[in-house]
Amino acid sequence: MRALLDVEALSRGYGSLVALDRIDLRIGEGERHALIGPNGAGKTTLLDLVAGATRPDGGRIRVAGRDITRLGPARRARLGVGRIHQRPAIWPSLSTLDNIAVAGARRRGGFRRTLPAARELLTSLALPDVAAAQLSHGQRRQLEIAMALAGRPRLLLLDEPAAGLSAVEFAQLSAVLDDLSRTVTVLLVEHRLDLVYAFADRVTVLRDGRRVLTGTPDEIRTSSVVRSAYAEAVS
Ligand SMILES: Nc1ncnc2c1ncn2[C@@H]1O[C@H](COP(=O)(O)OP(=O)(O)O)[C@@H](O)[C@H]1O
Ligand SMILES: [Mg+2]
Repeated sequence: MRALLDVEALSRGYGSLVALDRIDLRIGEGERHALIGPNGAGKTTLLDLVAGATRPDGGRIRVAGRDITRLGPARRARLGVGRIHQRPAIWPSLSTLDNIAVAGARRRGGFRRTLPAARELLTSLALPDVAAAQLSHGQRRQLEIAMALAGRPRLLLLDEPAAGLSAVEFAQLSAVLDDLSRTVTVLLVEHRLDLVYAFADRVTVLRDGRRVLTGTPDEIRTSSVVRSAYAEAVS
């Protein structure tokens, strides 16, 4: 399988703290890969490094064979790296449709040109076209995903999209993720293991900045190593 994302010996520290310690990770084109692990494991740090929000102390990041390690976040976005953050980032005073169209235009240029695609996304996610400030937390999550998709990413980075969702919103989010095209490779950080196991082709477990294991959901579910690594997160 061709690697769409290839992370090699990636490290990042904050002062004396080693947040990520020589992480290797290869994700195939079209793969749905989940990243799990206790709080502070380095999951968001890894997404930040791939998106270009922060720079590594060492290591290399390639997307579709291209070394992007030294590129800024805007260049990476144009090369197809899209993300949603741990806290939703939307424009509250703009309408749902305009949020999607503006996000698409930032990546692909031309607000008017991106409007039809934005409308399609709005319809497929069944989001109401109101001022974004009026959306529920779960709808904002879906809006953020639509905004990322409007840029037509090859790689979509999702940081805890299910956090704080109601049961109904969680079901909607699961459906949205399920419906994602396989033209998009996904790296999903998520604490809800039911979502992770249903969605992911493969799962990587991080702990204390190190990769504990990568495997299929079945391998992860039954791994005693993972159980002990994860015990602290649920206790
Ligand atoms: N900007 C920062 N400054 C200092 N320490 C940070 C910063 N961001 C993250 N960290 C630390 O790096 C470690 C990994 O954090 P993070 O990647 O957010 O973990 P996770 O997303 O898995 O919960 C944690 O110990 C966290 O406190
Ligand atoms: Mg995090």
